[in-house]
Amino acid sequence: MELNDQFELIRQSSTVALADRILMLKASGRKIIPLHVGDPDFATPSAIVDAAFRALKDGLTHYGPSRGFLDLRNAIASKFSRDTSDPKCGTMAYDPESEILVTHGGIHAYYLAIQAILNPGDEVLISDPSWATHTNMVKQFRGKVVHVPALAENGFLPTFDSWKNALTSRTTAMVINFPGNPTGVYPSREYLQQLHSLAGEFGLWVISDEVYENLFFEEKPVSAGAFPDAKGHTILVNSLSKTYAMTGWRVGYMAAPQRVIENALKAAQNSITCVAPFIQKAAAFALSDDGVQVEAAAMRSAYACRREKVIQIFHDYGDSPVHILPPKGAFYFFINLRALKIPSQEICDRILDEAGVGLTPGSAFGKQGEGFARMTIAASDADVSVGFKSILDWAGRR
Ligand SMILES: Cc1ncc(COP(=O)(O)O)c(C=O)c1O
Repeated sequence: MELNDQFELIRQSSTVALADRILMLKASGRKIIPLHVGDPDFATPSAIVDAAFRALKDGLTHYGPSRGFLDLRNAIASKFSRDTSDPKCGTMAYDPESEILVTHGGIHAYYLAIQAILNPGDEVLISDPSWATHTNMVKQFRGKVVHVPALAENGFLPTFDSWKNALTSRTTAMVINFPGNPTGVYPSREYLQQLHSLAGEFGLWVISDEVYENLFFEEKPVSAGAFPDAKGHTILVNSLSKTYAMTGWRVGYMAAPQRVIENALKAAQNSITCVAPFIQKAAAFALSDDGVQVEAAAMRSAYACRREKVIQIFHDYGDSPVHILPPKGAFYFFINLRALKIPSQEICDRILDEAGVGLTPGSAFGKQGEGFARMTIAASDADVSVGFKSILDWAGRR
């Protein structure tokens, strides 16, 4: 009997394999500092948990609307307007009735976006390095990924020429992710404007994964949706996972032109039916409650302090084969270990075995990630400091 041959093209994620190995080591009694995961170490703010309990007690334990409750879609639309209250950020207006869909987290929003627009053989431009799911999802739907190099020398932002050179008559979409996983990079408003112009000129969809939008350490990133004349070709993918420490709740959303939402809605109805109603109520609360926004800002400040601490430790160590480019956003350092001239998978295996620190190999994010390792700062202050020092010590002994 045959299987879907498309899955031959997708390798099991090396990140998952690594996470499994770390679990085994821990089970055997080894103390491992887990700096490989992209999951906030903070608890979900308790007021959000209370909102979910209230909804459960109110009987919201049955099917709910597949588009999402209107109050949640209203909260998402208000969030967009709130985000662009500063004129520097542009303006953003999405109709909650027809242009917003509630999803099972950011990954599902991305899944629906690809399913809504892609036909077999269509080409999609994705920067390298990037989150592996961006590539895998396109392959899953029989699209062809064309990687656009985002070189370390250029701060991990693809040049316009590299975007342009990757275009063919089959190009359908470009995927962007700012602030990005694993590099934390995000561009200026002008860069986004130019990308939109390119997309407009060549009739491309821009799928913008903005799950790290609230984790920034410099000026506030501009959303790809904040360009009213580009709204017709833009699909926003977002979630509450990272901003509100809600990774396990599995709730996110997509904002896009109505015809994209209609396709995505059919795909959602025929796969998940709806996001659990009590989760939707908690999400609406999270997006609109002022106290929760204060807690989210406090989490961002904590990540900022850890980022500073890593930079300080790096400077204190002086000469080292390790190099860092402080991230502008998200919660990762993409550590440059190229000077060691060892493949990044082997580096991470050895750092795990010999220094007891879990890292994600840069090669898991594409060819341009080779020689790098991703270290999260979404771990306790002590783990980040002790873990980073152990990495520097280990590299210093090479
Ligand atoms: C770039 C990016 N997009 C989406 C996701 C998934 O987000 P969610 O947990 O909301 O599905 C991740 C998770 O690490 C990510 O790094």
